[in-house]
Amino acid sequence: MDERNTERGMDSLNGWRRSHNCAALGTEALGREVCLMGWVQYRRDHGGLIFIDLRDRHGLTQVVFSPEVAPEAHERAHVLRTEFVLAIKGVVRARPADMVNTKLATGAIEVYVTEFKLLNTAKTPPFPIEDRVDVSENLRLKYRFLDLRRKAMADNLILRNRVSQSVRRYLDELGFLEIETPVLTKSTPEGARDFLVPSRVNQGQFYALPQSPQLFKQLLMCGGLDRYYQIVKCFRDEDLRADRQPEFTQIDIEMSFVDEEQVMEMAEGMVARVMREALGREIALPLPRMPYAQAMAEYGVDKPDVRFDLKLSDVTDIVRGSDFKLFAAAALVKALPVPGGAELSRKEIDDYTEFVKIYGAQGLAWIKIKEDGWQSPIAKFLSDAERAGLTEALNLKAGDIVFFQAGAPEMVNSALGNLRLKLGERFNLIPEGEFAPLWVTDFPLLEWDPEAKRWVAMHHPFTAPKDMDALASDPAAAVARAYDLVLNGTEVGGGSIRIHNPETQQHMFSALGIGEEEARAKFGFLLDALVFGAPPHGGIAFGLDRLIMLLTGAKSIRDVIAFPKTQKATCLMTEAPSAVENVQLRDLGLRLREKPKE
Ligand code: AMO
Repeated sequence: MDERNTERGMDSLNGWRRSHNCAALGTEALGREVCLMGWVQYRRDHGGLIFIDLRDRHGLTQVVFSPEVAPEAHERAHVLRTEFVLAIKGVVRARPADMVNTKLATGAIEVYVTEFKLLNTAKTPPFPIEDRVDVSENLRLKYRFLDLRRKAMADNLILRNRVSQSVRRYLDELGFLEIETPVLTKSTPEGARDFLVPSRVNQGQFYALPQSPQLFKQLLMCGGLDRYYQIVKCFRDEDLRADRQPEFTQIDIEMSFVDEEQVMEMAEGMVARVMREALGREIALPLPRMPYAQAMAEYGVDKPDVRFDLKLSDVTDIVRGSDFKLFAAAALVKALPVPGGAELSRKEIDDYTEFVKIYGAQGLAWIKIKEDGWQSPIAKFLSDAERAGLTEALNLKAGDIVFFQAGAPEMVNSALGNLRLKLGERFNLIPEGEFAPLWVTDFPLLEWDPEAKRWVAMHHPFTAPKDMDALASDPAAAVARAYDLVLNGTEVGGGSIRIHNPETQQHMFSALGIGEEEARAKFGFLLDALVFGAPPHGGIAFGLDRLIMLLTGAKSIRDVIAFPKTQKATCLMTEAPSAVENVQLRDLGLRLREKPKE
């Protein structure tokens, strides 16, 4: 620490109170005596005057130490450094005309300091507190409390607050009750692994942290509370990505005596309200809807980014008899034509070939449509009829490229669906600043889990089927009363109408291979509640972090969470998770199977 500062020591507030924040003052305040507090952003010495940009979460105010106005304060101001904490009293003056900064809210004024208190000193921060910092995210996460001082980060949290408040107002006006549900609970299956909490008083037994309050909100409906919401932490022990955290926040909602239409109307009204109140943007309601089957067919994914137009086409029938064996034998062959895409270099195509391997593809077939013919490693295998068929079906023109994927439908769709997103970026097809929300509806109720060799619920086992009979006769064809809200290619919300009839719930469990005994052991409380007059009910949950990420344009949800975890689920600041003392384990009746590696 700077010697002079230790000598001088730090001042206490001693009754000083802030009169304004650091973004509040303009020319209406000229001549006023004010008191500001904040951090030193910059210090500049100029011809006897010392200028400091004083910063708080609201903004910056230029304060001036002048030897004429306050000689003692000016003298002491020489020790001030970046991130020192100050309280200043002074008088608001107009800046000289050539010094006015129109980009700054307070850019027309400056405050001439009459006296100040040094509230704290600071070591040189490990990275500058500026909007653009060129340091690793890990360093920012280790010193998150400094990272949060950056305007970009604070602005994200400010917007997040605005969104939560807007949501609360909206739901409150509609008669929803904010009700808390337990965090120490029994496992609710939402498809991820549970975080477990050992019980000390019931040794050998564990609570699970909720993956969502799904069952509790249904029980609140059974309890007659009619309309519930909660802005709530959920915990899922799953592999992390840019839009996934092990603990994340849901806007969780449930309503009684409603069908899909009412839930969707309420939910899209909420999105529109949030857009208006948080961003000043209007979106047209009702939102467009797309059945799941169409999303998969045209976009290859169940969360289509409809801001741009590239679409996949099923060409299986056209190439069914092809000499190209891969095409002829495949369960599904799909094409992704890219108008004007023939300019792609060999290197770029090679990179895309590597990229689709992430999704299980072996390779990537392509054809460039040139003025003088087709250029492609596979063109020679295609007959004239196949060429004509493809040209017509895909509306091919000189200058285009077409990518193909053949094989199992799941792989074909995810490889081309994700390639589509890459190509959208490569060809600048994604309009900046546009929001394209839509509902995806008519999801399959069940999906086949090839590893477990059984049906699993695509949404969760409490989602009602559209048609009960289909569940028994042809599980693969059963459609769920479920809906997802997709925004710019990200799933921001999902929900459904629930099963409220105990027999249907039993049927659903047996379709999932959960026997009566197991159902009783795991969900007895739900089955009991359904027996005692459960009302029809349904709801939805939004991923608040994802929503804020999209509204702010952040690249990762970590940038809109105050204290996020890394991709490895650790907190670099507190160093959680960490080993615990042996006595703690003993209290819980636990012993580690192996000593963890250092
Ligand atoms: P679901 O599992 O679809 O539904 O979750 C709802 C929304 O939560 C967000 N989300 C996540 N956000 C960040 N990190 C994660 N790991 C993560 N996982 C999910 C997504 C998703 O759309 N109980 C049901 C809701 C219901 O049926 O009402 C549920 O939890 O934006």
